[in-house]
Amino acid sequence: MAMTDTGFKKGFLWGGATAANQLEGAFDVAGKGLSTADMIRFVPKEERNGYSMDVKADYIEGVLAGKIKDRFPKRTAIDFYHRYKEDMALFAEMGFKTLRISIHWARIFPNGDDQQPNEAGLKFYDDLFDEMLKYGIEPLVTLSHYETPLELTRKYNGWHNRKLIGFYTRYAETVFTRYKNKVKYWLTFNEINVITHSPYTGGGVLVENVPDKTFEQVAYQAAHHQFVASSLATKLAHEIIPGVQVGCMLARMTTYPVTNHPDDILLAQNHNDMNLFFTDVQVRGEYPKLMERYFEENDIVIEKKIGDDEIIKQYPVDFISFSYYMSISVTTQGEKESVLGNMVKNSVKNPHLETSDWGWQIDPKGLRYTLQDFHNRYGKPLFIVENGLGAHDKVEEDGSIHDPYRVDYLRQHIEQMKEAVKYGVDLLGYTAWGPIDLISVSTNEMSKRYGFIYVDQDDEGNGTLARSKKDSFYWYKKVIETNGDDL
Ligand code: BG6
Repeated sequence: MAMTDTGFKKGFLWGGATAANQLEGAFDVAGKGLSTADMIRFVPKEERNGYSMDVKADYIEGVLAGKIKDRFPKRTAIDFYHRYKEDMALFAEMGFKTLRISIHWARIFPNGDDQQPNEAGLKFYDDLFDEMLKYGIEPLVTLSHYETPLELTRKYNGWHNRKLIGFYTRYAETVFTRYKNKVKYWLTFNEINVITHSPYTGGGVLVENVPDKTFEQVAYQAAHHQFVASSLATKLAHEIIPGVQVGCMLARMTTYPVTNHPDDILLAQNHNDMNLFFTDVQVRGEYPKLMERYFEENDIVIEKKIGDDEIIKQYPVDFISFSYYMSISVTTQGEKESVLGNMVKNSVKNPHLETSDWGWQIDPKGLRYTLQDFHNRYGKPLFIVENGLGAHDKVEEDGSIHDPYRVDYLRQHIEQMKEAVKYGVDLLGYTAWGPIDLISVSTNEMSKRYGFIYVDQDDEGNGTLARSKKDSFYWYKKVIETNGDDL
């Protein structure tokens, strides 16, 4: 078959994205300590309240004391820890050029503040990287993906405490040194902006433990510590690893105004600015003026140490990565029907878009807009490190799984990527979220599936964990083979 020029560069990094806590399982194996993710219990649908899966201090203590018995899906997940060879062979069969994984920090430093790393944890990732490299799959590694060592929460209240910067840089230096010949692409924090929505998930912070301060005060202080830590990690990576590329990672929620009322336009701009604040800092190396005003108006005081601003300025990231699942629409006018609970104030349903079974608004053109907007704002290389459709899948009697909805979603998004590349966007790669079914963050369930590979496990944790190929498996293989030509 003759291939046309899709615009995607030679060596475009097609692949999939995962996080340790959502697929590894083996939560207490080979010296691993507990992490914040290991404490997120399974909540039946009827008891769920809002988006956040954050937990409370007395709950954690109750679990540790054995007084509370719950089920924690991420502790066992899909047992990738023991099955990664089988899974890697499947990724290789699809032709993956890259796989995004995260290192579970508590495998390396079980308590987070240990002086010495845990050799068994380091060895696990050595073996995992070797397995990837055997197939020519380039590792793309997140240092921190919603999995802060739990002891850092209990002892220091997570990233609210400045000491975390030191513990994180020790961890970063350890893994950079160890894997310097195996890993070239690193991300410092997954969805760094999530700390201002879910401080426990994003940074192991229990806001209730700082009763004299507002939620935002605590969250933005923690974010500041992560900015400094991210810059220091970027500096270290460049010192230790030849040819390294370090990226920031943002949950991008592109926001549209609902009407052309100037108030709506300004509101949407403000939403985008608040979201892009994080990349502004990590790419441009400074806090934007508008945030200074926001902090002032909301009585938020960021405690900075002398030298922080210089560190942030001196060590910006090399590329920008982000997750993209949906767009948001906001208005100051009329009735508001919230799309994502408190996560996005003033958001309303966009009548031009369909939604997933979980109410996420599907907007492929929004991805094109987002890419072009990033490009115009920063002029840096971009990497889409998460995108995909969470859906219910049905296994037919003969074992086959037909998922045309997933193919449609991905195809439409990749088509828009092509347009963005023609526009001039420098796109490094695309890693579809959850190439193998894994535990969802927002629901803590298995049944919100993203994979090309099905995993036999239900929401209650029953199943054989056997892997099987969905129709989308063969589709994505073809996409990669033709560098995005045959969609
Ligand atoms: C991103 C996270 O927010 O979205 C992932 O980085 C997460 O960890 C993904 O799994 C999809 O969200 P969910 O809630 O469907 O799992």
